[in-house]
Amino acid sequence: MASVDITAKIPNNVDLASDRRLQRALEQWQPKFVQWWEDLGPSTFKTNPVYLRTAIDVGQGGWANFGHVSMPEYRWGIFLADREPNRKIAFGDHKGEDVWQEVPGEYRSALRRLLVVQGDTEPASVEQQRHLGGTAPSLYDLRNLFQVNVEEGRHLWAMVYLLHGFFGRDGRDEADQMLERHSGDSDNPRILGAFNEETPDWLSFFMFTYFTDRDGKYQLASLRESAFDPLSRTCDFMLKEEAHHMFVGTSGVDRVVQRTAELMREHDTDDIHPYGGFNLDLLQRYINFHYSVSLDLFGSETSTNAANYFAAGLKGRFQEERRNDDHLLKSDHRLVPEVTGAGIGTREVTQLSALNETLRDDYAEDCQKGVDRWNRTLAESGIDVTLTLPAVGFHRAVGAFRDYHVSPGGRLVDPAEWNANVDDWLPSSADRNHVQSLMVGVTEPGKIAGWLAAPSRGIHGQPVEFEYVKI
Ligand SMILES: [Fe+2]
Ligand SMILES: [Fe+2]
Repeated sequence: MASVDITAKIPNNVDLASDRRLQRALEQWQPKFVQWWEDLGPSTFKTNPVYLRTAIDVGQGGWANFGHVSMPEYRWGIFLADREPNRKIAFGDHKGEDVWQEVPGEYRSALRRLLVVQGDTEPASVEQQRHLGGTAPSLYDLRNLFQVNVEEGRHLWAMVYLLHGFFGRDGRDEADQMLERHSGDSDNPRILGAFNEETPDWLSFFMFTYFTDRDGKYQLASLRESAFDPLSRTCDFMLKEEAHHMFVGTSGVDRVVQRTAELMREHDTDDIHPYGGFNLDLLQRYINFHYSVSLDLFGSETSTNAANYFAAGLKGRFQEERRNDDHLLKSDHRLVPEVTGAGIGTREVTQLSALNETLRDDYAEDCQKGVDRWNRTLAESGIDVTLTLPAVGFHRAVGAFRDYHVSPGGRLVDPAEWNANVDDWLPSSADRNHVQSLMVGVTEPGKIAGWLAAPSRGIHGQPVEFEYVKI
């Protein structure tokens, strides 16, 4: 088991001290990261003490250390899960061989690309969320926002460590560029579309952590299967942190729904906008938006790149080893959606070529669970309306549906019908204005904004009214 050097300039459990060249390179990158955090990290409460968890170890129980920390002093470190002895490659052309501790020459550029695309999303989300602190609905939520932000920063460190450690000069250049691309920048944007969208309000933040962070969970889970063992171990530990981000999204939207239901009952009306809440149809439009842009992140239904990554052993499927098939996927088939003049249909392709679609299916199934939970909350409040995920073809910019308009119910519609309904299907400017109008910063311990229900419990055994951020 690797020991943890928590007092080092860069806390780590990868024995950084024994590799002076790597240590020096990372210590040169560190001030650039700190400067980026200062420039594009949270724009409010920059130095207030926040009740954060910091990773100090990867073992059971010891990996999360809670205490008030000023964010610039957060100890961003490099942590890999423990090495699994005799781990074998579980899929693809090298199935059954030992996993790699170094990067094979022939897969160098493909692996680098995978790391860069994953790594780029981490600082992107910090940039997207940077202005939310000023309108946090409670200190509890403010703390959760900052927790997510510092951990996305740590995930950037995780990818930068791999780039520096295994990709030489190219890797160092890529690490620098992670801090040069910026979310929404017209000249040098982030790589993936959803990471250039704004996160302008807290409803969007909860939706983002539910839907878009969940894409991250599925990407990381597939990379955890990688034959490149340091990547696998890195992702394994990132997933532990990511679970909290999922929680912020699931419980955040649930609390919005709960408050909506309360206001509906209290005022005996569907239209609670005059009472400072969010109507269910508005929430549905936010779900439609965030779900559809997140579906795009999985790429085209069929993909030669994804097939090559799999065959090479670089990126597996979600829970690869639990699946009952040959793990080669060259002779198994499945259906993927296809749109033709005749309408929406399907075509049969090899499993190997359809890996993006398979991962998207796994993701969609997981997304449905949260929706079911929100619907239970509505049902328990006696409200006979359900929220739904829109059809897979709705509002897509990538893949088979990109050139078509599809209704949330899954029907192909012409541009005229789309335009006539788009304000019922996606957040309208009136919706966004209403959401914005309810965003007020609440900084008194235990108090909460009127559009949101209080959490059922606090963080790490602390009461809900704990001073999670010292103002
Ligand atoms: Fe992350
Ligand atoms: Fe995350």
